[in-house]
Amino acid sequence: MPNWDSIRKIDFPITQKFTYLDHAAGGVVSRPAFQAANEFWKQALREGDFRWIEWLERKEVARRQIAAFINAEPEEIAFVPNTSEGMNLIAELFDSKAEVIASDMEFPASTIPFLYRKFPVRFLKARGNKTLPEDFRKALRPKTKIIISSYVQYASGFRQNIRELSRVAKRHGAVLVVNASQALGAFPIDVKALGIDCLAANSYKWMLAGYGGGIVFVRKGLLRKRKPRFAGWRSVNEPDCYDNRRIDVKSEASRYEYGGPAFPNFFALGTACDYLTSIGKEAIAKRILSLTDYLVDELRAHSIPVLSPLEPEFRSGIVIAKVQNPAETSKKLFRHKIFAIPRGEGLRIAPHFYNNESDVDRLIRFLRKG
Ligand SMILES: Cc1ncc(COP(=O)(O)O)c(C=O)c1O
Repeated sequence: MPNWDSIRKIDFPITQKFTYLDHAAGGVVSRPAFQAANEFWKQALREGDFRWIEWLERKEVARRQIAAFINAEPEEIAFVPNTSEGMNLIAELFDSKAEVIASDMEFPASTIPFLYRKFPVRFLKARGNKTLPEDFRKALRPKTKIIISSYVQYASGFRQNIRELSRVAKRHGAVLVVNASQALGAFPIDVKALGIDCLAANSYKWMLAGYGGGIVFVRKGLLRKRKPRFAGWRSVNEPDCYDNRRIDVKSEASRYEYGGPAFPNFFALGTACDYLTSIGKEAIAKRILSLTDYLVDELRAHSIPVLSPLEPEFRSGIVIAKVQNPAETSKKLFRHKIFAIPRGEGLRIAPHFYNNESDVDRLIRFLRKG
């Protein structure tokens, strides 16, 4: 069992001053991720581009770290600045005549890239904060080719059964696109075992690796189907030949990394993968669920209604509490150095593994004070 107290003390200095309880917004940066990015900046400060070759190699190490983290192949992973760019690259892979279905609770980063390209997107009405695989199955029509779902829903905390949703998609011959921003770093993801075709996520929430990074995963077979819409000098097989006429675009996902790389973001993200793996992906998920269990019990004990699904299989790191005036409450908490912001129909509380029961107690104390 990980020593949570010691991890908290060493890797999360924020805990000395603040009670940080919304990793579903922007997570804090863990010390190892900070050090990885900081090391890059120190090298750039002192040595400029002397380390260019080393950095390119380190970027491939980060790609392998990320691939291992979600059980993908390195050639199926591209670095992106955020989920939105990843989703745009995924949308590019398909013919815009293909019908898309998504829950009406879906985060806009998942649906806007498809709507913008004029895909017909059908929104399924969520039932009690959930859109289950069965709801998707019933909504399928012959022209439905793409199912989009968040792994964890940002405004309710509903955790989707991705394995079952993938079965629904496969039986119908549709592809499954997963927005994993609210899950990557909190719940183990194995793209092969879960049957995910495409996935996008960022580094700045549950990965604890800061703004500016993210990943897109595209299953190999799909990558080869269509050429990318954009290409740059680093999209080609031999970028260091500087041939300004020959278009020899790579077949790997790295073709989406068009130019000079955002090295520090990717190093931070790669390091975060190894860091979370060293703590234990299952242990992290269990710890988050035990903290949200405690939180839900405390909220209910103090007659504060919980709007997130309560069934264990749908639970995640996100809990929405129905408070009087979420915006005012959040401001009040903020003044007391507690971070939790309004989302959905209440206050969103999203602890990570380094939080503890005392953080929850502190929050409840201030919520009770009104
Ligand atoms: C499900 C989901 N996707 C994406 C994002 C953010 O998108 P991006 O990574 O493009 O900033 C959020 C942020 O709240 C989210 O909840």
